[in-house]
Amino acid sequence: MIFVVTQPSALHETRAAYDAVASLYAELFSDVLEVLPLERALLAVFAELVQAHDAGPVADIGCGPGHVTAHLHGLGPTTFGIDLSSEMVALARRANPDLRFDEGSMTALDLDDGVLGGILALYSVIHTRPEQLPVVLAEFRRVLAPGGHLLLGFFAGDDPLPQEFDHKVSLAYRWSPDRLAELLRQAGFVEVARLLREPREGERFQQAHLLVRKPEVSSPDQEPR
Ligand SMILES: C[S@@+](CC[C@H](N)C(=O)[O-])C[C@H]1O[C@@H](n2cnc3c(N)ncnc32)[C@H](O)[C@@H]1O
Repeated sequence: MIFVVTQPSALHETRAAYDAVASLYAELFSDVLEVLPLERALLAVFAELVQAHDAGPVADIGCGPGHVTAHLHGLGPTTFGIDLSSEMVALARRANPDLRFDEGSMTALDLDDGVLGGILALYSVIHTRPEQLPVVLAEFRRVLAPGGHLLLGFFAGDDPLPQEFDHKVSLAYRWSPDRLAELLRQAGFVEVARLLREPREGERFQQAHLLVRKPEVSSPDQEPR
């Protein structure tokens, strides 16, 4: 008999792992933006671009306890959160009763095509199996309006191949910014900017952000492959 390991079981594992640590995660990270001026600056730029284009709300996908969702919403763009973990969603709702938080997976979003003006995905695609990442990026492109922006945050590595590392919650991968930028290009996005910062005290890896845009009109060489 042949057993096939499917993505749903990987999602189940990730969900259970984040359900178990949701309160601790919220305690440790809910105020973290206060000490991250570069990330705050990037979020301000992202907010400005999304508002200038005015094509729909922003989804913070893999929002965890919702601290970044609330920060971005406070900068202007209507923002809601989506997370795989029901415990994270419950904490996010409790901390931000005026904001919307939904349970869901980035692998199959319960959103119509082209409804979002922006997507934030900060340290959430790190748990996606590398072979599944093109599926997630295609899903991001599907739900973004033409001209919409995506801001992706992740742990950086030098190796051209994704490197599994001992993340404390669930199996995770570091990516070379060049390789991830290439996957985004193949998924039909245009790069706008990138940020690579050195680890702060207590952090192990360089941290990367890629800011990309879905083209207004797709040209043949920007069609996803
Ligand atoms: C490292 S935390 C990051 C949380 C928040 N974005 C932040 O920057 O603090 C990763 C989050 O992604 C969520 N996540 C992982 N896989 C997901 C998936 N397939 N769909 C939606 N959320 C997912 C986890 O439940 C968790 O809350």
